[in-house]
Amino acid sequence: PLVYEWSGISDLEIQLQKLLGIQKVIIVDGNLDLEPSVKALMGAEAAIELEDFAHQGNIVAVTGGSTVAAVANAVKPSNKLKDLTFIAARGGMGVDVQMQANTIASNFAVNSGNEYRTLYLPEHLGEAAYNAMKEEPVVQEMMTLYENTSIVVHGIGSADEMSERRKSTVSERQGLTELGAVGEAFGYYFDEKGKAVQRIRTVGLQLEQVKNCPAVLAIAGGTRKAQAILSYFKNAPSQTIFITDMAAAQQMFKII
Ligand code: BG6
Repeated sequence: PLVYEWSGISDLEIQLQKLLGIQKVIIVDGNLDLEPSVKALMGAEAAIELEDFAHQGNIVAVTGGSTVAAVANAVKPSNKLKDLTFIAARGGMGVDVQMQANTIASNFAVNSGNEYRTLYLPEHLGEAAYNAMKEEPVVQEMMTLYENTSIVVHGIGSADEMSERRKSTVSERQGLTELGAVGEAFGYYFDEKGKAVQRIRTVGLQLEQVKNCPAVLAIAGGTRKAQAILSYFKNAPSQTIFITDMAAAQQMFKII
């Protein structure tokens, strides 16, 4: 019966919230690896959470990826989502435009009637290029926005999948394996202990800035991400609210 099922989910939500050591967990029924519609349900839940946290004047940094894209699809104009500025958590351009943080930031803004700022930079910058970029006024302006970010909305990926999507070279991927990279979020790769072992060199939100953000919404689901999610949350900001699906939640309890 429905009532039993519901209390089942909320019980699991509490257990997972304790396991991950974060503020709140929301579990949506299903498995997004098998049913793409689950992503839309997670997006709708995340949009409700975002409304709860948003205050006028807030800067909201969002990452790329298909899961955060589903949140952008779920937001609409409301009294709570007012006078916000959406920005991409990183300037990096990936392969698929629809999955890029800049595109998603503009989708959030257009769908909710707000402002957005974009910054288009190559995904990987050489050291010299990175240092030169940092001096550019538009980049510095963006860095000020990162410094003043109140809300972060981010996805979590498996290190393998993300390095493949980023078309990393064989030796780069070998390097990640040697470093023990398992999970990925906002351009950082994390090992099993949640330590950031590598970061993509491009202009973006720093880990420290995420830690100091009053509100952090993480969205990721599907069985195949369970290990990555566990690794990321070993050392994630405790104020995080995590939206996931039943398949990932159950798989996490199988792994530990
Ligand atoms: C990327 C983000 O674009 O999407 C990553 O930069 C994130 O930080 C990833 O891990 C997740 O993608 P998806 O499509 O699995 O939601």
